[in-house]
Amino acid sequence: MIIYYSQARGNTRRIAELIHAEKGYDLCSIETAEPYTGTYQEIVDLGQEEVENHYKPVLKPLDVSLEQYDRLIVMTPTWWYTMAPAVLCFLSEHSFVGKMIVPVQTHGGWPGHTINDMKAAAPGATFQNAFAVQFDSTGGDELVTGGAEILNWIHQL
Ligand SMILES: Cc1cc2nc3c(=O)[nH]c(=O)nc-3n(C[C@H](O)[C@H](O)[C@H](O)COP(=O)(O)O)c2cc1C
Repeated sequence: MIIYYSQARGNTRRIAELIHAEKGYDLCSIETAEPYTGTYQEIVDLGQEEVENHYKPVLKPLDVSLEQYDRLIVMTPTWWYTMAPAVLCFLSEHSFVGKMIVPVQTHGGWPGHTINDMKAAAPGATFQNAFAVQFDSTGGDELVTGGAEILNWIHQL
């Protein structure tokens, strides 16, 4: 299953939907109980505070049961060089022992330590095919990573 969180521009959702279209894997989104509101810059600033405090927002219940999946593609936007707080919460709330995780991030040029942090947040899982997709550095929705590179990676899954 592909499980993704996407907030600012829908970038992570776009890549998740591409994997879904190419591979047909089930698709599920992580959503916070309280949506983020405010301007992009306000959310960037709030995100910094949240990341620094290892804040875990309350999430909406998932509409699927994770038990039935051995292999999860977990996708996050990069927030302050790491995964978004919603994804930290998701990984912390469930056990991934014995499961295989494909960790994926979208970012704007500063990927930081996101993939390593995702690995640390899911003890007992194995990790394969980690991937980073770069969008433009202004926080927009223009892809920088080439489409062919993304498709090659998807086809190797
Ligand atoms: C709170 C916040 C913090 C961000 N921090 C980073 C960062 O550290 N490095 C980076 O390259 N991009 C950063 N970005 C840009 C996003 O990672 C990038 O635009 C991503 O593709 C957005 O995905 P989404 O549209 O699915 O939410 C940040 C964006 C936000 C909203």
